[in-house]
Amino acid sequence: MKVIIRNNSHEGSLWTAHYIADRINEKAARTSDPFVLGLCTGSTPIETYAELIRMVGAGEVSFRNVISFNMDEYVGLPVEHPESYHSFMHRYLFDHIDEPAENIHILDGNAPDLAAECEAYEKAIVKAGGFDLFLGGIGEDGHIAFNEPFSSLESRTRVVTLTQDTREVNARFFDGDPSKVPAQALSVGVATVLSAREVVILAFGSKKARALASAIEGPMSHYCTVSALQGHPFGTIVCDEDAIGEVKVNSYRYFKAVEAAENA
Ligand code: PGA
Repeated sequence: MKVIIRNNSHEGSLWTAHYIADRINEKAARTSDPFVLGLCTGSTPIETYAELIRMVGAGEVSFRNVISFNMDEYVGLPVEHPESYHSFMHRYLFDHIDEPAENIHILDGNAPDLAAECEAYEKAIVKAGGFDLFLGGIGEDGHIAFNEPFSSLESRTRVVTLTQDTREVNARFFDGDPSKVPAQALSVGVATVLSAREVVILAFGSKKARALASAIEGPMSHYCTVSALQGHPFGTIVCDEDAIGEVKVNSYRYFKAVEAAENA
């Protein structure tokens, strides 16, 4: 696992946007196959998306041959609700880039048969060629997508029940009322994320510090599902100084030294 540490979330977001754009451009230069990208919601990726929007506008990257799959969606929340992940993604990314509408995939939390919806999603990912890169965030409880503590590290896309902790954290988007946060969601599984050829996880701010330290230094465990990244051959965490604050001093120095050596 590689850990990229930047001074603040702004610098981490710029690094990530440019990294994703480089990956898209690099694939486009060698093949006409689409770039398959996993995307996340939440406060964390917003600045990364803003920079990608700027880059698309400036002609530095194009999403015309990108196929995206979002990691999760609430169950039972109308698509047009401002806090649905459909609304979020259009507001912060899709309405401002050139990705064709038919290339955008977001789980339908209002599907009549939720299990069938999840199964079809996994099949569509495989049909698209599998993920080239999955961009994710990390929950304060160490979740990746909505894979809450004790989710199987072998899990695939399915219906999940949100923990009270997560509903409280997300209540800020629902008038501060945890009971207004849907109790269930559809989420890709840990194994779905890890099936990507590359995984990039963002973590900004001191609220993520404990989860990030567990993910990096703790055992690989279903207690902190993002720790499964330890078993991935090509996993990168992009964080700021606040989020990396709980790891051992020697771990911090090691990551800084690796980056300095690679940039030398
Ligand atoms: P956040 O959410 O970006 O809003 O902190 C991340 C997550 O819960 O995975």
